[in-house]
Amino acid sequence: MTRNRSVGDDERAIDGGGTDTDYDVVETPVLVIGAGAAGARTAISLAENGVLPLVIGKRGHGDAHTTWAAGGINAALGSRDLEDSPAIHAADTLNEGHFLNDPAGVETVTDVMSDRIRELEEWGTPFNTTDDGAVEQRYFGAQSFRRTCFVGDRTGEAILETLIGKAQELGVPYRENVQITKLLSDGERVYGALGYDMENGSYRCFRAGAVVLAAGGYSAVYDRHSSRDEENNGDGPALAYDAGARLMDAEFVQFHPTGMVGERYGEQWEGRLVTEAVRGEGGYLFNAEGERFMERYSPEQMELDARDVVARAIAREIAENRGTENGGVYLDISHREQSFIKERLPSMYERFAELGVDLAEEPVEVAPTAHYSMGGVDIDFETGETGVEGLYAVGETTAGIHGANRLGGNSLAETVALGKIVGDHLAEEGFADLPALPASQKRLAEEHFAGLEAMAGEGSEDPEHLIEELGDLLETYAGILREEGGLSEGLDALADLRERAGDLAGGERTSRSFEYAVDLGFSLTVAEAVLRGARERRESRGAHFRTDFEGKREEWRRNLLYERSLEGMSLETRVPGEPSSAIQEALDAGYELDYHQLE
Ligand code: FUM
Repeated sequence: MTRNRSVGDDERAIDGGGTDTDYDVVETPVLVIGAGAAGARTAISLAENGVLPLVIGKRGHGDAHTTWAAGGINAALGSRDLEDSPAIHAADTLNEGHFLNDPAGVETVTDVMSDRIRELEEWGTPFNTTDDGAVEQRYFGAQSFRRTCFVGDRTGEAILETLIGKAQELGVPYRENVQITKLLSDGERVYGALGYDMENGSYRCFRAGAVVLAAGGYSAVYDRHSSRDEENNGDGPALAYDAGARLMDAEFVQFHPTGMVGERYGEQWEGRLVTEAVRGEGGYLFNAEGERFMERYSPEQMELDARDVVARAIAREIAENRGTENGGVYLDISHREQSFIKERLPSMYERFAELGVDLAEEPVEVAPTAHYSMGGVDIDFETGETGVEGLYAVGETTAGIHGANRLGGNSLAETVALGKIVGDHLAEEGFADLPALPASQKRLAEEHFAGLEAMAGEGSEDPEHLIEELGDLLETYAGILREEGGLSEGLDALADLRERAGDLAGGERTSRSFEYAVDLGFSLTVAEAVLRGARERRESRGAHFRTDFEGKREEWRRNLLYERSLEGMSLETRVPGEPSSAIQEALDAGYELDYHQLE
């Protein structure tokens, strides 16, 4: 029986599983699953404190979903608006999260953001600056002040480059092209993770003192989504749930108002983001009749109202036949100078120029697209702990900072703010000694790899088709508008899909088809949580809009928690905490963006 061993500089191989299914075993004190900003920032803190973690990415080094976060990162620097403060930033976040956020967690993030921006600058992020050298800040939706720092419209890419550079300087080892398929867990403690190398198909077992899930969210489970198809499939939340952790508020999925639509751009661009920065820099929305329709829905905040409000307004224009032939509306910034657009929105300008559209001359067609999951793993924001010993989570994999609706620019903020906090905490714990691997976990590894072998086999269902069906199902029953009957139908349809997913033809482990098969497993778990949560929450709040229960209900100012039980997915609720007096004061002051300053 062969045992392949693969040893990196900072990794040590130990004996493999002792089954027909060979696998490498690698030890590391801390395994970070996910190589975007959250994972990288966590790893940096660990390394700075003398603990070298191993970071695993599904793609090539530097090619994480963070690169698609375009328009900016929030910090109350006051470069433009001196009145701004971390407390007002927190108040805006709670207001737009409709008070389902964890207020202490929010305060933790907003308090440290100025430091995180300065640190990024010091490490080399080339933020746009004002004439006197301060970090420039732009408007983003539903924020009281100009608070969004940016690098043109490639902010995520620039930040990730910086973080990766820093991690490399500190000697953090990375493994590319590894798909994690399961955590080694007995429900009480996590011992590591299992997966395979996507380039050569070989199985991997990572033994770790602690595992950090920084593997993104689940917006790509929807048919039209802003990320690439192979990311945000729900890996992080589904792995955590399977390992015994609780999920929270899965029903809150953010539809970004402006995803690309229309034959002119080609299928590969369907749903991809047209950054909010276009509206933040003054862009208007028009329907096919030439009306600036936000005047009807939000006369004060107009195009810069919260994303859920703007997305619903666009959906309504389209549903009431005032949309374009391609099922969109127009986003127009052609009233700005070409030089201004090229300076502030260089990537957008280039992308559309390549598609034959000059942003300085004509509008683009847009429609809402699934963009971000406010739901995810329930964690403690002081440590990143999930409630399962040794299992931590950070970034979009988690729930609680954004409540019922996220402010644009707050996701990048969360990744670096909490990445540092979780990394510092883990470094204190040390994890020098790995826990002994119980025999039950070795069996679990063997059974899991045998299951993956079977999934590659001769089943009758094409995983890609099932993924497409699942995307349509969620758009139909758990899209921008939901109602009880539809959600129940959606759950029935999901049960059928799940049964068919037991008979997959996954193909070679190095194939895209096999990856679809793995993604499908994760996506089915999160889809169930979305549908169940959306049916249970009998109110409309933020991004969750029930046509049969319009308006917020005080008794529903509760987080919904989902846990694995013998009966399946069980749900319970918990009342979120109350804001501190500093934040309450900022809330009482009633700050609000006046869009018309922009005009
Ligand atoms: O529109 C955007 O640039 C997206 C930013 C975000 O989701 O934070």
